Amino acid sequence: MVDHDRLMEKCHAAMDFASRQVRALIEAHPDFFPMYTQGGKWRHEGEAWTNWCEGFLGGQMWILYGHTGSPYWRRQAEHYARLVEHRKTDRTVHDLGFLFWSTWKRWYDLTQDPAVNEVVIEAGKTLALRFKEKGRYLRSFVADDSLFIDIMMNVGIIYYAAQQTSDLDLRRIAGEHCLTTRRTLVRGDGSTAHEGIFDLETGEFLRQSTHQGWRGDSAWARGLTWALYGFGTAYQFSEDVRFLQTAELCANFYIEHTPPHGVPPNDWDEPSPAHPYESSAAAIAASGLFNLAKLTGDPARARMYRDYALQVLDTLTGPEFLANETPGWEGVLRHGMYHERKGLGVDESVMWGDYFFLEAVNKALGHE
Ligand code: GLY
Repeated sequence: MVDHDRLMEKCHAAMDFASRQVRALIEAHPDFFPMYTQGGKWRHEGEAWTNWCEGFLGGQMWILYGHTGSPYWRRQAEHYARLVEHRKTDRTVHDLGFLFWSTWKRWYDLTQDPAVNEVVIEAGKTLALRFKEKGRYLRSFVADDSLFIDIMMNVGIIYYAAQQTSDLDLRRIAGEHCLTTRRTLVRGDGSTAHEGIFDLETGEFLRQSTHQGWRGDSAWARGLTWALYGFGTAYQFSEDVRFLQTAELCANFYIEHTPPHGVPPNDWDEPSPAHPYESSAAAIAASGLFNLAKLTGDPARARMYRDYALQVLDTLTGPEFLANETPGWEGVLRHGMYHERKGLGVDESVMWGDYFFLEAVNKALGHE
């Protein structure tokens, strides 16, 4: 059982530490968007694979501004949001939710400025252009025949654009994408596949596959947490109870298959993994579970999700994961994993891990 008062102290300390780390990063490397550390350092020549992380640095600044009220963080948050504005028409990636929900949507929530909202809406409309009518999914960045579980974390911005503009076709696209993902990538036990491959001529679903997990039929941890969180968001917008059930199925898989400390390996099915932890998945799960606790109609399950999220944060704010006792480490959260097969960001800090960790800490502190 987590000591609640002690955890709240650890959450405040984690916010203070993150504020120092982010400030040190942007003062040393202004306007630079790192994705993962190498040996704990953000600046290196390692490849990106794809460009999906540029919202998470500014996103941390919006959270830090909300936490501190400091004009410094407000200035930086607006500046780093403006640096990604041009991506609202980027048709090369499936990640516009990641880019704009963490930055411009937080800005709009704070200000209600219609010009800021327009940017979020345009990003949502751009993302919807990836929809493949035959297979009824938003295609991933790798190929037309590919659907990623990760897109569940981005489809919310299409629902949002649909809601703001009363565009029924945008709403249809978002809903069909979620139903296709649920049918093809979420398994009966609540585990998820990373990728689905489709026949482009007929739209037929062919097989499950993976890039960052162990095998096509295995359970890549981060992908499952994208589903846990993303199906919850889809339910919030659509009120389609099938999406809430799916989010809860994924949550139950996570809780049943993860050690009591709450941090999974990169893939639950990989025998004897070289690294025991994927801390970014734990941070995403914690944040998604705080959401599910509010969405589920069942008080016992709500308590269980919230208690579990607090347990995860108790672990992540400890010295094994929070880098505050690791001299010279530039990230916030240690033991994250980006792309093990490619050797990118293996047992390092990852920018989205730091972002979702701060988001979860913020929720534990009652700020969102
Ligand atoms: N490409 C998104 C992820 O690594 O989870």
